[in-house]
Amino acid sequence: MAIFRIFGGVPLHGDVRVGGAKNAALPMMAAALLADGPVRLEGVPQLTDVEMLGRVLRALGMRVRWTNENRLCLETINARAVEAPYKYVRRLRAGFCVLGPLVARRGRAVVPLPGGCRIGDRPVDLHLAGLSALGMRWRLERGFIVAEAERLAGAEVDLAGPRGSTVTGTANVMSAAVLAEGITIIRGAAREPEIVDLGRFLNRLGARIDGLGTPEIRITGVPRLSGGTYRIIPDRIEAGTLLTAAAMTQGNVRVSGAIPEHLESVLEHLRQMGAEIVAEEKSIELRMTDRPLPLELEARPYPGVPTDLQAQLTALLSLARGTSRVTDTVFPQRFLHVPELNRLGGRLRRKNGSVVIEGVERFRGAAVQASDLRASAALVLAGLAARGETVIHAAQHLDRGYERLEEKLAWLGAGIVREKSICPQMVHVM
Ligand code: EPZ
Repeated sequence: MAIFRIFGGVPLHGDVRVGGAKNAALPMMAAALLADGPVRLEGVPQLTDVEMLGRVLRALGMRVRWTNENRLCLETINARAVEAPYKYVRRLRAGFCVLGPLVARRGRAVVPLPGGCRIGDRPVDLHLAGLSALGMRWRLERGFIVAEAERLAGAEVDLAGPRGSTVTGTANVMSAAVLAEGITIIRGAAREPEIVDLGRFLNRLGARIDGLGTPEIRITGVPRLSGGTYRIIPDRIEAGTLLTAAAMTQGNVRVSGAIPEHLESVLEHLRQMGAEIVAEEKSIELRMTDRPLPLELEARPYPGVPTDLQAQLTALLSLARGTSRVTDTVFPQRFLHVPELNRLGGRLRRKNGSVVIEGVERFRGAAVQASDLRASAALVLAGLAARGETVIHAAQHLDRGYERLEEKLAWLGAGIVREKSICPQMVHVM
């Protein structure tokens, strides 16, 4: 169990480098199952989600090893293993991304149906419908999807769901279609940069994918994929989190390595809140000299404001000079951070599926509990802007999606330290 102890009120200043994108690395690791040779991924962040998926892939007969701090090498050693262990997949929804590659490359897969999680209902009906259209047969057996296919065949697939497309559903279907016989058209495909990056990675290995970044992706099946090397895009969610931290503390921070076009809608909203932003090809600088202006914010599929930055921007709007409203059209229930922000002195209330936020001058430090990855990031940001000390329990949730977050924030001048609690029950004593 980890604890973050934060001494708030310090404006962040300086230059920090963003790491590789978690949500590009995970589907790429799963897609490495398709390759006939070694795959080398550069710029992979050292995260617990990455480690967890590495364990799933090792159980599936792959050698997975770090050859330097952020280079991950993956190679199939034993292609007979087809069962993804429940003990790992239950803690990592992205583990479900191995289904498409396994069925396409090995003709069989036994993958646990992912559970729901704190941000709301997480169905996989679109994944299963898309893969079935390619010829996968499946049944549910003791909580596992047991799937088979002789040779997948190209088809027309529609992945548009009630709340936009599915990101990992697009990853699963696109990865499988690469080795299917004939042409696959995915309509209602996710346009997220992480999916574009996955498609470019697969093309580097010999796939033939067109239309990446548009709602219609066209895949011409090929008989095999070779190994290869690929550098992952920077993490736009980490970049957005660091920029929001700068805005909340009225500081001046430059995030190097970030790609502005991946965050266009976020930068536009930050400008509307009063931030001065200078975007260059591979960096984004933000300066904030006052409390933010209020606004209406709606998290949407790309290119809209990403749901993975909704909690962080909600924390920023909690300090606005007026009343704001936030809605999440992707995960309408993704508001775990609201009660915790109120414990820090915020004035947020749920109303008709949105959150109405009355801006306050400052947060006041308190003890809070981390939970969902991005809700936990919002609490860290609030602690940085709070008067006094904030203690964040169960802070290890942050290690799932942020590499050395407390070190990066301390580098920018934040008063933040990580402590290990002696044991879980001690946490309640401290
Ligand atoms: C990916 O999750 C990301 N995870 C999430 O990031 C992100 O919040 C989400 O996309 C939305 O951008 C990874 O990429 C590993 P979805 P995913 O399938 O693919 C509905 C983080 O913090 N839906 O795009 O699981 C679903 O209920 C994580 O890094 C169906 O109806 O999300 C939701 O409302 C959290 N049927 C919407 O689509 C399906 O079969 C989007 O879900 C699948 C999804």
